[in-house]
Amino acid sequence: MASNVRSPRALTSTARWAHADSKSAALFARAQGVLPGGNSRTTVYMAPYPPYAASGESCWVTDVEGDRRLDCLNNYTALIHGHAHPAIVEAATRRLAQGASFPMPTPEEIDLAALLCERLPSAERVRFTNSGSEAVMIALKGARAFTNRPKIAKFEGAYHGSYDYAEVSLASAPENWGSLAAPASTAYSRGTPPAVLEDVVVLPFNHTEHAVARIEREARHLAAVVVDPMPNRVGLVPARVDFLRALREVTRKHGIVLIFDEVISFRVGYHGAQGLFGVTPDMTTLGKIIGGGFPVGAVAGTAAVMAVFDPTRGGPPAAPHGGTFNANPVTMAAGLVAMRLLTPEAFARLDELGAKVRASLDDCFKQAGVPGRAAGLGSLFRLHPVDRELSDYRSTRTTPVESERLVRIVRRLMEHGVLMSITGLGCLSTPMGEAELEGLVETFAAVLEMERHR
Ligand SMILES: Cc1ncc(COP(=O)(O)O)c(C=O)c1O
Repeated sequence: MASNVRSPRALTSTARWAHADSKSAALFARAQGVLPGGNSRTTVYMAPYPPYAASGESCWVTDVEGDRRLDCLNNYTALIHGHAHPAIVEAATRRLAQGASFPMPTPEEIDLAALLCERLPSAERVRFTNSGSEAVMIALKGARAFTNRPKIAKFEGAYHGSYDYAEVSLASAPENWGSLAAPASTAYSRGTPPAVLEDVVVLPFNHTEHAVARIEREARHLAAVVVDPMPNRVGLVPARVDFLRALREVTRKHGIVLIFDEVISFRVGYHGAQGLFGVTPDMTTLGKIIGGGFPVGAVAGTAAVMAVFDPTRGGPPAAPHGGTFNANPVTMAAGLVAMRLLTPEAFARLDELGAKVRASLDDCFKQAGVPGRAAGLGSLFRLHPVDRELSDYRSTRTTPVESERLVRIVRRLMEHGVLMSITGLGCLSTPMGEAELEGLVETFAAVLEMERHR
């Protein structure tokens, strides 16, 4: 893969959306009258306004101006087969033609649950939700019901969806984050009830001794420890295996439910991150790729823990869980096809491409003399505008100058045919091949040249 591009080919401009008279500008102006700040999803906002999408095909997205970009974001990692994969479109439309949803279960939910139980070491039973946020919410509720304890523990900086408990200490800063041994519980939203902060114990990611000691101290009250084995907001830095093993040991010792949030990291292998790292939790939260591009989430776990949701035992379950659209048949049908396409060979190919891309992006930073590096595993990567060693939330948190550099780089990629997250998150999809990725690396090298000469 090209990694030493010094004089890149002429770049194609895809910047029409940024013009004051663009269709995206007009749509945003209209949106501002009916959506707060013109926005329905904080993550997709970029200042002063984002381009609006018109369509997607394979690994390409076309915006409403008619500009086409290589999609290196795939709806924040959900679309592992890119856009409009023919087999997924066929399965979803066939199911949709038979009715969109029912107040009855459908056969498809059993098939997708069976596939997940077969692949995920921790899964003996599955419950479906409509998003990853909901999956985390339900897993925490389930863990509380199972242990009859009130508190949960999570890691500083880790994102687990839009939910009060899960959001604690998501954006802790040096002025409020406290000691590494006992990170402070900080609110993400204004008005977060103090009771929420009191019931969330915050742990330092990848710091085994501190994390274990704090879990030991709080064990009597802890229902769950939730950990993402490769947290995106902690820089997509993988957990150390000995760290995950220590969490497994201490939670087992104290009867605490260990939850792996694999909403993103299920992408890293046929058996998920837990298969890759060789550590099996009690519960796993899933989302994104398992829905074939439709809204989805799932909680999987051991039969013993998941029994808290079982309505057949007489009386209400220990953790009742409703949801009008849970296990929606269109989502289930699309998800089943998407997951079946993800064979061990498909993962191996993505891994190989991912490793090459990360190495090439790293090389581009070095060649350009711009501080930066690429983190990640498998088909996932994240650009960091820094040279330092990255291991935990505090080391990956950027200064304003570093953040501005990253935003400039990502925005220039956007103006030249590459779509990534403004936070530096990127990922591959199965329709991508060497040619697309060479294009990505060439564009990236050219963008870094611009950064060097600014
Ligand atoms: C690790 C993790 N957990 C949970 C969620 C929430 O999932 P959703 O956006 O489907 O609610 C996300 C979303 O990005 C995530 O990355």
